[in-house]
Amino acid sequence: MDYSKKVMDHFAHPRNVGELPDANAVGQVGNQKCGDIMKMMMKIENDVIVDVKFQTFGCGAAVATSSMATELVKGKTIQEALKLTNKAVMEALDGLPPVKVHCSVLAEEAIRAALIDYYKRQGIDPEPIVGCSGDCVACHHDHGHGEEEE
Ligand code: FES
Repeated sequence: MDYSKKVMDHFAHPRNVGELPDANAVGQVGNQKCGDIMKMMMKIENDVIVDVKFQTFGCGAAVATSSMATELVKGKTIQEALKLTNKAVMEALDGLPPVKVHCSVLAEEAIRAALIDYYKRQGIDPEPIVGCSGDCVACHHDHGHGEEEE
């Protein structure tokens, strides 16, 4: 299996790993197939993600994609972060082997989950803004999870 230089770099030196004690948006998602878990913590001020950190019990590709994803959303607005797809993250990393595509989905879902949490904390219904988290009971039952791989 070949990993790009960028994937190897983000795996060996992940950016933004750790705790964010003053986070006001925290999301955690898991992948049912591999059992890996991803936690995303953000500090949001005036709709801008001023800081972000992640922690994962995930594989190397999950580490690399979340590392890149945090770099891509840091300093961006919530609206911009919501547009970030796992595909864009993979492109920024010069690609991932097909069997590892689902790992990049974890990072995207964790970002959405954190933003859902952000709105919930303020008593705002997140669904019209963030949409489906991709990690709810309905998703697992209706169209499975991890089938975003194409
Ligand atoms: Fe589970 Fe990569 S194998 S996130």
